[in-house]
Amino acid sequence: MQHAHMTAWFLALVLFFVAIFLIKGGKAKGAKIVQMIIRVMFLLILGTGFMMLSKANSSGILGSDAGLQYILKVLLGVGVIGLIEMILARVKKKKSTGVMWIALVIVFGLTLYLGFSLTLY
Ligand code: HEM
Repeated sequence: MQHAHMTAWFLALVLFFVAIFLIKGGKAKGAKIVQMIIRVMFLLILGTGFMMLSKANSSGILGSDAGLQYILKVLLGVGVIGLIEMILARVKKKKSTGVMWIALVIVFGLTLYLGFSLTLY
């Protein structure tokens, strides 16, 4: 499940940059298709994420000190998905994305940090 989670978010990230290049290059149709694939990846990320969460729950981790970290990890992960969606929408409308890029780098970094530290539990 972890490998599926990792593969899905990695692919989503790569395709996110592909979509931006396609939008900026005026290839709206290609960008739309790539964005559909990104959304499938989002579903896989969420699916595998919640499966891992329920596994952590059934082993009682959520009630321990690490529980809060799991909840935070999930919220940050959902935040990454939201920011990617918002950036793509704003790039399409040619609106400024500067602040969102900074937010994405921070939220993504924290998600990676928490995600990898949770694997130690
Ligand atoms: C694009 C956003 C996301 C990124 C970059 C990300 C990244 C990671 C990383 C690096 C790990 C640790 C290694 C691994 O198992 O792959 C991890 C684990 C985890 N992720 Fe995510 N994740 C994201 C979204 C989500 C979402 C939306 C959820 C909730 C549904 C979620 C739930 C979890 C859980 C519960 C674990 C803990 C696995 C364990 O017990 O070891 N993640 N994530």
